[in-house]
Formats: sequence, C-alpha cells, structure tokens
Amino acid sequence: MSIKTQSEIEKMRISGRILANTLKILTEMAVEGITPKDLAKVAASELKRNGATATFLGYGGTPPYPDVICISVNDQVQHSVPTNIPLKNGDIVNFDFGVTYDGLVTDSGVTICVGGVPNQSQRRLLEGTKQALYDAISIIKPGIKVGDISSTIEKTLRKYKLGIVKELVGHGVGHELHEDLEVPNYGKAGTGPVLKPGMTIAVEPITTLGKPDIYQDNDGWTLRTWDGSLSAQFEHTILITENGCEVLTAL
Ligand code: MF3
Ligand code: CO
Repeated sequence: MSIKTQSEIEKMRISGRILANTLKILTEMAVEGITPKDLAKVAASELKRNGATATFLGYGGTPPYPDVICISVNDQVQHSVPTNIPLKNGDIVNFDFGVTYDGLVTDSGVTICVGGVPNQSQRRLLEGTKQALYDAISIIKPGIKVGDISSTIEKTLRKYKLGIVKELVGHGVGHELHEDLEVPNYGKAGTGPVLKPGMTIAVEPITTLGKPDIYQDNDGWTLRTWDGSLSAQFEHTILITENGCEVLTAL
C-alpha cells in the first residue's frame, strides 16, 4: 500500500474536513419526513460548494453506483442507493460518503437514530459499533499489524453481542477509494501487514442486531440483512503518523 507524501496528506485533510462537515449537516437534517434522496441532493451541493467531487458516483461495475452517497436505512446494511421513502422517527440511518479533493479521496460513515431516541437494542447497536471504531483508533500507530486492529474491533463487537458482517471490510484509501490493504472487522492479533507512517486506511466496523447474513437488492447495490434485523456502520479515514495516528475525517 502506498505511503502518502506531505502534499497528498494535506489534500486528504481538506477532503476529510469537507466530508466531516457534510456528514454533520446531513445528520442534523435527518428528521422525520425528509427522504434519503433529498439528503443526497444536499450532499451533492456541499461537494460543489467546496470544490470537491463525488467519489462514489459512477463507482464500480455493472451498474455503476448511481448516486453521490450511500444512505442505508434499518435492514439496509451498506451501499444503499438513496430512495424517495420519507424517514420516520426511530429509523436507524447510516450515511457513508466519499469525497475526492484535488485527486485525493477520503471515506467516512456515521449511523444515527431519527428523532434521537433509540430504544435499548438500537442503543446497543449504535454504541457498540461506534465503540469498536474508537477502540481501534486508540491502538493505531506504526509497527502494529492489521490483525491488531481486526481483533480489537472483534473483541468490542462480541462484548456488545453484535453480528459482524464479514463480507465487508475496511481498506487502504487515498489515490483511490479502495487501495490494496484490507482491514477485516475480525481476526487474530499479531497477524497481517505492518502499519507504517504515511499509510492511510479506512476502518469501518459493519454490524447487525441479528444474524450477520446479507443479500443484495435488485438495484444491484443495496445490501440488506437476511433476517430483516437492523444494521450499523461507523467509518473514519485514518493517517498513520510517526507516533500514532490522525483521524482525517473528524471535524
Ligand atoms: N465506504 C464504502 C466502502 O468502502 C463505499 C462504497 S462506495 C459505493 O465499501 F460506490 F460502492 F457505494
Ligand atoms: Co469504506
């Protein structure tokens, strides 16, 4: 995986700030009655206003991803195409967004409960998934191995009794959305590639309240849980520094 130069890192910082700011706007706007499609339009206009472009639009194979952002509601797990179905209080909504600025990419995601009052199991889903990401961030520094991140995430998710969607993994990011290093959300400490200063990775635990099995909708993108259970994801793009790490997609 590539080591980024100072000027590439500076572009990723700008990209990450635009991304974080957009996610903040979207989570504040995500109230009952608004549609995911409305929110995707806001994301597109934020990109334009900031001189950035959409990493996800046109991404991938057949069909190419058709929108600027993925907005996954309730049993939708990831890669969900924004719909015209209005949000309701109590919906669990994940925003997963990618921003390209001057050729450099960052990727980040957040999950919320519409109306801001999650029930007990929804709170376990949101808190556990977020905690897994922040536990991982707390150990990231040069010299650790990817398996150390994976096992840290797995341990936290098991503690919260959440399902781990094993098909979906974190990844290297920067020149492209998905660079060659994979960061699974389960695994053994002390295994895998060693992290070095200048590497940039996206860490993204993806969980379910029920069984972790998923299937793809007939739009060719949207992934859903088999058992209809709720799903969550939190993601940050992280730079490995000389002494530790820097979260590039935090405000
Ligand atoms: N954060 C998602 C991932 O790393 C981005 C999906 S991009 C899409 O898989 F275009 F596939 F939606
Ligand atoms: Co990602």
